[in-house]
Amino acid sequence: MDRAEIERKVLEFDEDPGWYQNIDLGMGLRTKSRVIYGEDPDHPKQRWDCIASAVPDALSGKSVLDLGCNAGYFAFEAARRGATDVHGIDLRRGYVDQARFCAEVTGLPVTFDTTSVYDLKSLERTYDLVFFVGLLYHCKYILEAVDQVSAVAADTVIVESAIELDTGDEPLVSYVGNNPNRPGTWQPSIPAMIEMFKESGFESVEPLFQRGGRGGIVARRNG
Ligand SMILES: C[S@@+](CC[C@H](N)C(=O)[O-])C[C@H]1O[C@@H](n2cnc3c(N)ncnc32)[C@H](O)[C@@H]1O
Repeated sequence: MDRAEIERKVLEFDEDPGWYQNIDLGMGLRTKSRVIYGEDPDHPKQRWDCIASAVPDALSGKSVLDLGCNAGYFAFEAARRGATDVHGIDLRRGYVDQARFCAEVTGLPVTFDTTSVYDLKSLERTYDLVFFVGLLYHCKYILEAVDQVSAVAADTVIVESAIELDTGDEPLVSYVGNNPNRPGTWQPSIPAMIEMFKESGFESVEPLFQRGGRGGIVARRNG
């Protein structure tokens, strides 16, 4: 694809479905030129900065799955760290098309499919490292989603979510009923996320970060 064709496709995807993620395409080109849902202009760089310390610097030989991948940012970061067996899934076909376009332009070895987090068993395999970033609080069937994620995780899951604040050590989950972007969903406290992943079979589950209304944990299969 030449530069003019890449620029034309970036604009086309900007119309539909819009670029939520700002991905470096090389040649001085990036995907995102406007804010869609109030996210940062360089989204999800700040999200990545919160979780990057839990991602090994070298991922060669490791398999990686990015859930709710959108345009593939976290999958591409894994590939940039040397992983060659990297897959992303998203419910929306338009985002998967964006991600495939970014893979083609960057040449990064990542594949993408339109799949739901509730249908992960259909992948019929497991991954060493799973990114579960910005998706848990979109899940109406939150415990089913956690069990599905557990079924495809051979080792480590990095979870990032909007969280319930100020609950102390209480594993509380609040119902989010008034947000038109994610109606009928649930928002857990960090202790609640920890309990959910322990109950779903992970031996070691540790807090990773908390900043503003967001937080993260790292769940490991065997300590
Ligand atoms: C808030 S965005 C987060 C995207 C990305 N992980 C990030 O942090 O920038 C949520 C993403 O999850 C996808 N999504 C929502 N429900 C899903 C589901 N049931 N299965 C898979 N993906 C889903 C959306 O299409 C969207 O791309």
